[in-house]
Amino acid sequence: MILNLVIAYSSAKNVYKGVVAFLFGIWMIWTLGQIKDFGRADLNNVKSQPQVLRPRASEKKFTILFYAKPSSFNPKTVVFDRCNYKNCELTADKKLFSKSEAVIFHHNSFSTLPDKPSGQVWIFATQESPYHTSKRFKTDKLKMKFNWTKSYRKDSDGFSPYAFLRKKLENPVTNYTSIFMNKTKNIAWVVSHCQTQSKREAYVKELSKYIDVDIYGSCGKPCSFKNKEDCKSNLSTTYRFYLSFEIHYARTI
Ligand SMILES: *[C@@H]1O[C@H](CO)[C@@H](O)[C@H](O)[C@H]1NC(C)=O
Ligand SMILES: *[C@@H]1O[C@H](CO)[C@@H](O)[C@H](O)[C@H]1NC(C)=O
Ligand SMILES: *[C@@H]1O[C@H](CO)[C@@H](O)[C@H](O)[C@H]1NC(C)=O
Ligand SMILES: *[C@@H]1O[C@H](CO)[C@@H](O)[C@H](O)[C@H]1NC(C)=O
Repeated sequence: MILNLVIAYSSAKNVYKGVVAFLFGIWMIWTLGQIKDFGRADLNNVKSQPQVLRPRASEKKFTILFYAKPSSFNPKTVVFDRCNYKNCELTADKKLFSKSEAVIFHHNSFSTLPDKPSGQVWIFATQESPYHTSKRFKTDKLKMKFNWTKSYRKDSDGFSPYAFLRKKLENPVTNYTSIFMNKTKNIAWVVSHCQTQSKREAYVKELSKYIDVDIYGSCGKPCSFKNKEDCKSNLSTTYRFYLSFEIHYARTI
């Protein structure tokens, strides 16, 4: 599909730019091919989940406390219907700390830790890469405190991926030629971390010597729309490609 679009583009007025876009298309197809998990909701290699804490676990009400929860998280929306054990209750009420079986600490929402009651399980939760979170463990205070982890990594005790890729059941009826013909610019990138460990900014700087790249957000120009959705829809109808690069290098397992 990308190839067709690129060929359609190169038959337009500027052959040089077309060749660059063509090479870029090939590179993108190659890159996507390198992503091993692409195209399936891959639950292989997920670490087996921790054993229940107590015998006869199904007869008891379990309290799981989100001790230092990120402001975006609402415990009321968590439903245990599809879990092996449905008799759990998630709370953000710190008054329930001493009677909680397990306590979740979100990596950047706590500065000091309470004393740990014996038998309680502590869970370290993060969706950030080790590069970002490991500095939390440079002090002895956090060492050997946590029993389980909850993160995007498959070897976490609680695997919580950002998203799954699933196959569409029906092919969308879409005229890609028509969408493509309406586009007038090549590459957009919306970005807010300007200096990164992965050096993605250097890659984009080099790329922009060969093809037009427009940078929006804190590291570029503001998108001229107040509403985020209008901005996204303008970018997606205007640009042929969108860049998406990670901030850090990190393993997924
Ligand atoms: C949790 O970690 C503590 C050390 O902080 C340990 O004493 C305890 O046995 C662990 N509990 C479980 C269920 O793994
Ligand atoms: C798709 O759009 C192009 C360009 O607007 C048009 O020439 C073509 O006929 C359309 N194809 C279909 C199947 O509608
Ligand atoms: C392309 O632009 C024309 C003119 O603005 C518009 O009528 C048409 O709906 C657009 N096509 C697509 C697929 O967005
Ligand atoms: C996107 O926004 C720019 C700047 O406001 C405007 O010139 C352009 O026509 C818009 N493109 C589309 C496809 O709406």
